[in-house]
Amino acid sequence: MVKISDIIRGQDLFGDKKRKAKGRNQKDEVVISGILAADDIINDMISPSLRGPTNIEKKEALSILSGVSGSLDKMFSSIRKGKEFDIAPLKTQAKKLVKSFEKFENIYMIQIYNDYEDVSLTPKYNSLWTALIAIMIGSVLGLEREELTELALSALTHDVGMGLIDEDILNKKTDLLRSEIREIETHPEKGSELLKKFGDDYGYLFEVCAQEHEREDGSGYPNGLGAKDIHQYAKIISLADTYEAMTHDRPFRKRMLPLYAIKDIVENMKHKFNKNILKAFLEKVTLFPVGSYAKLNSKEVGRVIASTGETHFRQVVNILYGSDGKKLKTPRVVNLMEAPLLHIVEPVDEREF
Ligand SMILES: [Fe+2]
Repeated sequence: MVKISDIIRGQDLFGDKKRKAKGRNQKDEVVISGILAADDIINDMISPSLRGPTNIEKKEALSILSGVSGSLDKMFSSIRKGKEFDIAPLKTQAKKLVKSFEKFENIYMIQIYNDYEDVSLTPKYNSLWTALIAIMIGSVLGLEREELTELALSALTHDVGMGLIDEDILNKKTDLLRSEIREIETHPEKGSELLKKFGDDYGYLFEVCAQEHEREDGSGYPNGLGAKDIHQYAKIISLADTYEAMTHDRPFRKRMLPLYAIKDIVENMKHKFNKNILKAFLEKVTLFPVGSYAKLNSKEVGRVIASTGETHFRQVVNILYGSDGKKLKTPRVVNLMEAPLLHIVEPVDEREF
């Protein structure tokens, strides 16, 4: 469980350290592919209770994500072409995400962390990752299965209005003009108009879509609504969407590492989000997800290969670089719960290597 003290500890340690990121080739269209294959090799080196998911589980989980991504693709491409789109396939996908969440939560969270380079033409991955983070929060809040499905569907459709925004603006690699920002800020209203046609059964969808950029302290848009007037799903999605955006690349900037994003949210944005929702998020979010790189107090750098489920600063790490910064000929796996003198001090961007 994330403790606020852990986050505060992180703040003290990191200060204003600059993180440079070397560019890497942009990924191809399909970003959802098998991940962590190499981990199968090192899985054998981890005690059975800490081992990651099996290949079969990964395949099943990734195929669910691919299905959702495919439905989102269809939705956005229909909107771009001015065609009607059907909500039923997305509802089916939302149900699948919720149903599989408990079983595959770890795989989903690892995938969200690792697919940070996607800067696709449509916000489909943002919608997918936002839905998963929203389900994570909703589960901690104790929402019922039916409510979680509504929440997931709301998240999958929260940015439908982006399908009506000029793609040149969405993909612009430099600062946006004021007029371009205004154009983007029309997407909640445009999106909710698109969702209205699904009728009263889906009333929550257009309400949430219209409110996803409203904020608890009244600082959001388009209407500057206050806490009392914002739908609960919109409150959850606004936090999930913010965290997703911060921890993933965008055409004009690189991502932040999870710890820095969480630090920023807690330090600078906490009044914008509902307190209980923020608390639920902090209970579950992972500071050093499996797949991420981290520096230890010994100055060695390694990759987190398994979660101990204990304090964030003590995971199972495959140490790849020695304290002199040189790549080790033989990496070594350390369970930091069993190495009292070692702990993680900061996250490292793998693009630095
Ligand atoms: Fe949005």
